[in-house]
Amino acid sequence: MVQFQDVSVIYGESFALSRVNLCVEPGEFVFLVGATGAGKSTMLRLMYGDLKPTRGQVMIYGQNITNLKPTGIPKLRRGMGIVPQDYALLPRKNVWENIAYGLRAIGYSQREVHRRVAHALALVGMSSEAKSKPDELSGGEAQRVAIARAIANNAPLLIADEPTANLDPETSWDITLLLQQINLRGATVIVSTHNPAIVDRLKKRVVAMENGEIISDTPSGSYPGEIERARISVATLRR
Ligand SMILES: Nc1ncnc2c1ncn2[C@@H]1O[C@H](COP(=O)(O)OP(=O)(O)OP(=O)(O)O)[C@@H](O)[C@H]1O
Ligand SMILES: [Mg+2]
Repeated sequence: MVQFQDVSVIYGESFALSRVNLCVEPGEFVFLVGATGAGKSTMLRLMYGDLKPTRGQVMIYGQNITNLKPTGIPKLRRGMGIVPQDYALLPRKNVWENIAYGLRAIGYSQREVHRRVAHALALVGMSSEAKSKPDELSGGEAQRVAIARAIANNAPLLIADEPTANLDPETSWDITLLLQQINLRGATVIVSTHNPAIVDRLKKRVVAMENGEIISDTPSGSYPGEIERARISVATLRR
């Protein structure tokens, strides 16, 4: 489903990713964890064609996207759902329109757009907020809408960059269960996170990164202690 072969990303002289190999099979749920700057977003951006590797190959659904032309990107993204860290909702459009917009761009009929938006909103428990504007939503609600938008086209691959950043523990867990539900319905889900509580609780595959390298990859793992200890000591120093 997703394959990285010896992938490096170099900015100037520094490596954001260094010779990374990764294989994600259809139906997997993968947590991508690591400290700030470890390379998580770089990995995810490579998957949705927002960045090209300096070296190595990236394959999605068996297609080599390493040298994908800009005109190929919309087609690639039609086959995936993307939840960006900043939600990226259109501020002037209401919740319903935010989700319908991308579906219309793909070319679904009006009836199909209606059906899919209604279904996605129901799945994330946001049907009653369909007419709200993004600035009328709480962080957790906006996050749910961003997930609804990503799942509305029923894509077999969902990529979420820190979907629980800035949410309280309870909402974080609700969002995590929602991602798990999407995975149980058949989608491959790849989630980057800093959140040890949800990683430890869900017991899924954990790919840990440090300085642009994968340092561990465990099938039903927990949040690596060394990364959490490093995070706490940095937070203590900043105080
Ligand atoms: N456009 C850029 N120019 C130069 N360096 C960059 C650029 N984008 C990312 N980097 C560097 O690449 C490295 C990996 O960044 P990345 O955003 O992938 O980390 P991350 O694990 O997602 O971190 P965070 O948890 O803070 O989101 C960092 O050292 C970062 O400074
Ligand atoms: Mg990031």
